[in-house]
This record gives sequence, structure tokens and C-alpha cells, in this order.
Amino acid sequence: MKRILLALLAAGLCFAAAAQNPSSPGLNHGLRGNTALDKESTPALLPKPVNDDQRKARNYPMQPPLIPHQIDNYQVDAKFNKCMSCHGRDKVADSQAPMVSVTHFMDRDGNMRNEISPRRYFCTQCHVMQTDAKVPVKNTFQDFYSATADEKKGAKK
Ligand code: HEC
Ligand code: HEC
Repeated sequence: MKRILLALLAAGLCFAAAAQNPSSPGLNHGLRGNTALDKESTPALLPKPVNDDQRKARNYPMQPPLIPHQIDNYQVDAKFNKCMSCHGRDKVADSQAPMVSVTHFMDRDGNMRNEISPRRYFCTQCHVMQTDAKVPVKNTFQDFYSATADEKKGAKK
């Protein structure tokens, strides 16, 4: 029994050592590329936020919509919420921004409040900007409509 355990332990150690090989060419270590662990890699440039004011389609109904404008230096803290100065119910007539959804006024017990619920106060917990970053891994996600398109075509026959 002991011997088996020792063998397993040794195998585990070998595996860990192989996985951490710092400069194995061809092995991609995410943002570091294949730079050796004791060297500094040149970080890639930060991708630019898409700031075209065009609201993006949602991939599924409950997706928090992407932010289609820049949000640099927008203050969101205990004192002030810059987002609500445009997206608040009483502000949208002036700003022409879409009002935060009705779910954002609901507290955790399901009561509708007059103000934004604390659960929805920190907008960027859920809403993010789109950037022009290149996808590092090919994405084959299909939304529900495209995934069922063939089925629907079949049904029409
Ligand atoms: C100066 C006014 C203003 C401020 C401040 C502002 N927004 Fe907006 N927002 C808009 C307008 C106007 C739109 C409609 C699209 C456009 O014109 O960019 C919009 C669109 C959006 C949308 C897309 C909604 C949809 O249905 O697609 C999201 C999400 C959003 N904003 C989130 C935020 C967040 C989060 C903040 C704070 C970090 C914020 N906004 C601050 C004006 C503002
Ligand atoms: C806990 C996650 C979460 C937080 C925090 C949050 N949102 Fe949302 N938001 C969502 C989701 C999910 C949706 C889409 C479903 C819905 O309407 O609830 C949404 C929808 C919206 C919409 C579109 C409304 C519509 O009717 O088309 C706007 C605008 C928006 N949020 C703005 C904001 C702003 C501004 C804040 C900060 C004050 C904020 N959200 C905070 C998750 C969040």
C-alpha cells in the first residue's frame, strides 16, 4: 500500500515539474507567452474600449447589457454614483439614456424600492465595456435563435 502511495506521489511531483517548465518553447502561458519565469515579458497594449454609442444585442435575455460608451473616471462610491446621474429614473428625460431596469429597484426580499437597490449599486460588477481585443481562443458560442434555426426550418416543411 505504502509503495503504491509513494509511486503516486512521485508521479504527481514529476507531473507538477513538467507543467511548470518555465521556458518550454511552444507552450503558451497566457499573458506571459513563453517568457521564462525569471524574465519580464513585455505586456501587450491594453485594448481600446468600443465607444460607438450603439447598444449591443444581448446573447441571452438575462444578460447584463454591455456598456456602449466609455466610463473612464466615472465616480461610483458611497458619495456619488455617476452612472445614475444619467441612468436614474428622474434623469433619463434629460440624458436620453435607457433607464436602469425595474429589477434594479428590487431589494433581496423582492420589495420595490424608490431608489437603486444596494444590490445593484456597483454597476460594473455586472456591466462591462466591449473592447476591440482579439479573442485569444476561438469562441463557438451560439445564441438560442441560431442554435434552434435548423430545427425551426425543419418544422416549417
Ligand atoms: C452622460 C450620461 C451617461 C453616463 C454618466 C453613463 N451612461 Fe450609460 N448610457 C448613456 C446613454 C445615452 C446610453 C445609450 C447609448 C449611448 O448613447 O451610448 C447609455 C447606454 C448604457 C448601457 C446599454 C444599455 C442597453 O440596453 O444596451 C449600459 C449597460 C450603460 N449605459 C451602463 C452605464 C454604466 C455602468 C455607467 C457608469 C459607469 C454609465 N452607463 C454612465 C448615458 C450615460
Ligand atoms: C448584479 C448585477 C447588476 C448590477 C450591479 C447592475 N446591473 Fe444593470 N442589468 C443587469 C441585468 C442582468 C440586466 C438585464 C436584465 C434586467 O433587466 O434585469 C440589466 C439591465 C440594465 C439596463 C438595461 C435596462 C433596459 O430596460 O433595457 C441598464 C441601462 C442597466 N442595467 C444599467 C445599470 C446601472 C447604471 C447600474 C448601476 C447603478 C447597474 N445596471 C447595475 C445586472 C446588473
